[in-house]
Amino acid sequence: MGDAAGKVAVMSVKRIGTEPGPEMRSAAPGHEAFDRNVPHIARMYDYWLGGKDNYAVDRAVADQIAAIFPDILVGVRAQRAFLGRVVRYLAAEAGIWQFLDIGTGLPSADNTHEVAQRIVPQSRVVYVDNSPVVLAHARALLGSGPQGATAFIQADLRDTGRILAEAARILDLSQPVAVLLLGVLPFIPDDDDPATIVARLMAAAPPGSYLAVAHPASDIAAEQMARTVRRFNLQARDPVTVRTYAEVARFFDGLDLVEPGLVQLHRWRAESDGLELPNYGGVGRKP
Ligand SMILES: C[S@@+](CC[C@H](N)C(=O)[O-])C[C@H]1O[C@@H](n2cnc3c(N)ncnc32)[C@H](O)[C@@H]1O
Repeated sequence: MGDAAGKVAVMSVKRIGTEPGPEMRSAAPGHEAFDRNVPHIARMYDYWLGGKDNYAVDRAVADQIAAIFPDILVGVRAQRAFLGRVVRYLAAEAGIWQFLDIGTGLPSADNTHEVAQRIVPQSRVVYVDNSPVVLAHARALLGSGPQGATAFIQADLRDTGRILAEAARILDLSQPVAVLLLGVLPFIPDDDDPATIVARLMAAAPPGSYLAVAHPASDIAAEQMARTVRRFNLQARDPVTVRTYAEVARFFDGLDLVEPGLVQLHRWRAESDGLELPNYGGVGRKP
């Protein structure tokens, strides 16, 4: 993904025991951040979640998608709720206090560091997103509690070397870390080999680390999903790829899935409510 200059921003890194200093490197947002003519997934997602950080073009396409797939509104809330349950599980039950959250999206209620630091105040969270839209809002992600630390890196998921090098400025990668890939792998087409990207991230994490994935399904409500994807890809800058259960399960190769395994994410450690949402979620532990 080249383009190193001007694309990585580690902002306002708070270290345990030290005063935070706003250190922002090469963080000037690209003009595409504010392109009002091209819908952006982070702003569309914000709109579906009921947020205010979106433009007319985002709302128009988001509404078209909601017309084809009305459950998208329930679906995005289900994904945020999954994020909350996963982080609570990792912090409260799995002993995790370091998080690498890639494909962060715009700040919303209960961002990863807020959930984690409520349980483990020392938690450290590195947020990564390739979008200058998210960078422009990143300060809201950086309000770490005094004992913990947060940072934001603008980088592409494919650029694992740079992500790991920058993340290591506040994460101790000799200690277990949770890699969160929630709603971001669909933006990596098969040609870019997403399974190898995931494997590279997990290879850098020690045993006892975790991977969490949320990924839209191509084999639940298949026809409706295919129409939704076609509609989205007509206008979106970054096309989306939805995947089968087996294709999503592959991301967990070499890891032990924690109970209840890879399931529809609204069913992961939650009461089933009769919905059939086309979105898989799971958490795996590196043995
Ligand atoms: C659907 S949102 C998910 C937000 C959040 N993870 C959640 O689950 O609520 C997807 C995010 O992934 C980001 N994204 C898309 N492709 C990416 C890539 N190749 N590298 C890094 N981030 C990417 C988008 O900018 C967007 O903010």
